Amino acid sequence: MKFLPFPEIKTERLQLRKIEESDCDVILFLRSDKTVNKFIKRTKSRRTKNKADALKFITKIDNGIKNNKFISWGITLKNNPKIIGTICLWNFSKNNKIAEVGYDLNPIFQRKGIMSEALNYIVNFGFNTLNLSKIEAFTHIKNENSRRLLEKNGFKFIKNRIDRGNTFNIIFEIENPAANSH
Ligand SMILES: CC(C)(COP(=O)(O)OP(=O)(O)OC[C@H]1O[C@@H](n2cnc3c(N)ncnc32)[C@H](O)[C@@H]1OP(=O)(O)O)[C@@H](O)C(=O)NCCC(=O)NCCS
Repeated sequence: MKFLPFPEIKTERLQLRKIEESDCDVILFLRSDKTVNKFIKRTKSRRTKNKADALKFITKIDNGIKNNKFISWGITLKNNPKIIGTICLWNFSKNNKIAEVGYDLNPIFQRKGIMSEALNYIVNFGFNTLNLSKIEAFTHIKNENSRRLLEKNGFKFIKNRIDRGNTFNIIFEIENPAANSH
């Protein structure tokens, strides 16, 4: 499993690209805006409060990509290089067969099917390129937007699984339909 060269992805309306230091203002916004973060719980050390924190976070992502530990894409519309959201695969299992997906989107661009489009391509990337057998998503029980996004894209709510780190979370999974991944 290798994340370099960075796997840029083009969808119908979007370009999923590497997040650069020059994107730090948008990253600060996405990780600190109250609406975007309403349902996202972070420990103090993971919070992004200022530009310096955003730069540190971008460096962390860069290192994750270099070390094949996690990967995060900046989401842009095809006609504008400004990032409007992010989507990532992280928390890989030891054997690199299971990963968790995470995402956020500027509220101006929500409810237009943008994250559905991005998620669909990232799930396919996870299954076809990384050969994952399963992708998981942890989301706050009251995060209707996220729950619907996951359900509409084939993720199944796993009733019996509990997130011990955050009991307000519920867990969704999607399995790779390709037999050779098991
Ligand atoms: C979750 C989030 C990424 C969804 O992105 P989005 O681009 O608005 O989602 P989509 O427009 O692709 O919506 C997916 C589907 O769910 C539906 N949907 C989304 N929100 C909905 C709502 N509140 N009520 C009813 N349907 C909703 C959409 O209509 C769409 O279905 P459709 O294809 O039939 O139209 C976005 O709300 C967000 O960034 N939230 C804040 C960050 C966050 O909570 N991240 C998750 C952390 S676990």
